[in-house]
Amino acid sequence: MAFAVYNAPDTPCRRAIILAGGTGSRLTPMTWAINKHLLPVFDKPMIYYPLTTLMFVGIRDFLIISNADAIPEFRRFFGNGSQWGLNIEYATQDGANGIAEALLIGEAFIAGEPFSLVLGDNIYYGHGLPEMLAASAMHARNGAGVLTYSVSNPQDYGVLTVDAAGQPVQIAEKPANPTSNRAITGLYFYCAEAVEMARALTPSARGELEITDLNRVFMEAGRLHYEELGRGSVWFDVGTTDALFAASAYIEIVQRRQSIGIAFPEEVAFRLGYIDLDRFSHIVDGLPDCAYRGVLEDVRREATEG
Ligand code: DAU
Repeated sequence: MAFAVYNAPDTPCRRAIILAGGTGSRLTPMTWAINKHLLPVFDKPMIYYPLTTLMFVGIRDFLIISNADAIPEFRRFFGNGSQWGLNIEYATQDGANGIAEALLIGEAFIAGEPFSLVLGDNIYYGHGLPEMLAASAMHARNGAGVLTYSVSNPQDYGVLTVDAAGQPVQIAEKPANPTSNRAITGLYFYCAEAVEMARALTPSARGELEITDLNRVFMEAGRLHYEELGRGSVWFDVGTTDALFAASAYIEIVQRRQSIGIAFPEEVAFRLGYIDLDRFSHIVDGLPDCAYRGVLEDVRREATEG
């Protein structure tokens, strides 16, 4: 079988913010001493999943926003990202002041360009996902692109309601009585103007700058676009113990059954051509004997033996 290389799509989005702060209180006591986004989802830290999801969209510049005490932990994992052909920067959020605050913290990083924002606890996997992400990213030219997913518990998420023609007509954060089962997932593509729009928001009743309020501003201007993740895709928000367990089990089953790796940044960087075989091999050889290394050794074998 020929070694599969990936071609990153050409979209207006070249940079992304990964929001990885908050308190992780729903995962107590695991989050007492460890940032939630570094907890394992099966065989790798949670944050590897959103990172690699956006690498598939051709994004190489990342800003990780987290609490001051967690930034050194992230740095230990990623450094400046150059080992994977990426550029990774860091910024601090003082308290869980809301997801939309990431745009204000990241203003200099965004630098007046279209960008993506992803929540560090959101996991995506499935057939056709890179194409769908690329389609959504195109809306960042002068609007907003979001991904929706039909769920049985919409009251736990931001919810989008559309009319008979499929046009967004209502958007609500964790509504007690949802008018649709279409959850807005935690991966967003925005034009640069979103920063000014976020600055004009006022905190919600729970004291947060709500991403749903920002998306509503785009919707009311007719500039909110959505792609519906279909049956062939999965999306997890792994903010609870149940979801963390379910996602871990899912990743374990697919990886083992198909003998593939999901969300290995080294592999994704190699297949995208961000690092060459020498660099990839050097990384693999530097790992101790472990299951994670075994997956990467399979990739190397495939690349060298065909
Ligand atoms: O997962 C998708 C959902 O994420 C959306 O459907 C909702 O509209 C959106 O509000 C959000 O809901 P959650 O209840 O999941 O948000 P949560 O407070 O759990 O935060 C999501 C992630 O963002 C989590 O990894 C922590 C991080 N975060 C959150 C806030 C509020 C921060 O880093 N800073 C913050 O201030």
